[in-house]
Amino acid sequence: MSVLAYPPVRGIVGTNWTATALSVRGRGVARALKCETVAQAIALGVDRVRTGNDAANAPILHLNETMGYQLVAGGISYLRPV
Ligand SMILES: CC(C)(COP(=O)(O)OP(=O)(O)OC[C@H]1O[C@@H](n2cnc3c(N)ncnc32)[C@H](O)[C@@H]1OP(=O)(O)O)[C@@H](O)C(=O)NCCC(=O)NCCS
Repeated sequence: MSVLAYPPVRGIVGTNWTATALSVRGRGVARALKCETVAQAIALGVDRVRTGNDAANAPILHLNETMGYQLVAGGISYLRPV
């Protein structure tokens, strides 16, 4: 899977939740899915997209870099039980 994620009110559209089944990994499926998601964004008139990733996930870091994503400063999430 790979999806376009729109912020609730405003902000940059994301290409999120890219994942493939263990049985198909290493065959270009994630790259194809993420390219399709970017193509959908272009077709919808989106002028830029953002993605997030685990900084220790080498395959997705490689994919993102070769697709042209550029590093921005990382964020820190503060979570509190409610
Ligand atoms: C990350 C994930 C989506 C990759 O899926 P995939 O179908 O195996 O990806 P692809 O085959 O399209 O591409 C993988 C690329 O990473 C490269 N790669 C694989 N292992 C690597 C490693 N250890 N270091 C660097 N590059 C690596 C492959 O060579 C390939 O690049 P290439 O197209 O230039 O040859 C998959 O492992 C997954 O679903 N992981 C769990 C969910 C996840 O972590 N999603 C990312 C959200 S942060």
